[in-house]
Amino acid sequence: MELWNRVLSLGAAGFLWALLICRVIDCLETDINCLKTIKASVQDPLNYLNYSWNFDNSTEGFICRFTGVDCWHPDENRVLNLKFSDMGLKGQFPRGIEKCESLAGLDLSNNEFSGPIPDNISKIVKYATSLDLSSNSFSGQIPANLSQCDYLNSLRLDHNQLSGQIPAELSLLGRLKSFSVANNLLMGPVPAFGPKASVTADDYANNPGLCGAPLSPCTAKKSSSATIIVALAIGGVTLTAIVIAIGMFFYLPHDVVLSILKERSK
Ligand SMILES: *[C@@H]1O[C@H](CO)[C@@H](O)[C@H](O)[C@H]1NC(C)=O
Ligand SMILES: *[C@@H]1O[C@H](CO)[C@@H](O)[C@H](O)[C@H]1NC(C)=O
Ligand SMILES: *[C@@H]1O[C@H](CO)[C@@H](O)[C@H](O)[C@H]1NC(C)=O
Ligand SMILES: *[C@@H]1O[C@H](CO)[C@@H](O)[C@H](O)[C@H]1NC(C)=O
Repeated sequence: MELWNRVLSLGAAGFLWALLICRVIDCLETDINCLKTIKASVQDPLNYLNYSWNFDNSTEGFICRFTGVDCWHPDENRVLNLKFSDMGLKGQFPRGIEKCESLAGLDLSNNEFSGPIPDNISKIVKYATSLDLSSNSFSGQIPANLSQCDYLNSLRLDHNQLSGQIPAELSLLGRLKSFSVANNLLMGPVPAFGPKASVTADDYANNPGLCGAPLSPCTAKKSSSATIIVALAIGGVTLTAIVIAIGMFFYLPHDVVLSILKERSK
């Protein structure tokens, strides 16, 4: 009986180990798949990835020697940073990056990436401390979802064609130290970052209509909304007076109304 129990618990332990090891291998496979997906989705006219990213010799840590790939440990296939700066790459934002689950930094700067920044970006670079998409042709709005990238220290979106307003939610990025959206097509109020973030007017330069500290205050907008409020208030008072007058005319006995009117005209 006791022996049987022992066999059972040994079996269970072995099963758990097997599960765990599968899990680890799975996770490392994911990072290889991540790079395969990126290579397949990106246009690479200068052949940076084509020549260096060779998946044939899959010794442990082989992807760590690829151009633009930093690993957590040189002989473990787990990607820490992807640095694709200045490689002439083209195409949409490479969503395959979501499979590099341990990624801490992504640099796509100085390429020809275009199209929108994905609106689930926080799921794609969940643990990124640094995200640099500067000097590309990204367009559309800055996704509010970036505010869910809780670990971001540095966010660079400058020199693109991003338009619309900067989401106010970006001020929720509590660890953010540097931020730039210069040279885009942005308008409206800038986020109210905390004291940790040292964001200057230069970081907002060359946009058609940004306002709010450290830029000049958004006065025009405030005064027009104040005018609307005053107009609504005056309108409301007038309407109420008319309704009361009509109500009085219909519901008060006519002689009372007449006597009030007579009293007035005296
Ligand atoms: C990629 O590199 C190989 C040589 O390694 C070359 O034959 C091939 O044409 C290249 N692919 C592209 C798209 O340039
Ligand atoms: C695979 O790469 C490793 C490390 O670069 C090298 O030592 C080994 O000889 C390579 N194997 C083959 C079959 O090319
Ligand atoms: C934005 O981020 C949150 C949290 O990561 C996520 O649950 C949500 O689905 C995201 N929004 C979109 C449009 O993907
Ligand atoms: C992000 O959204 C795209 C579609 O818009 C979807 O295919 C992808 O699976 C999403 N990624 C994550 C990590 O949720």
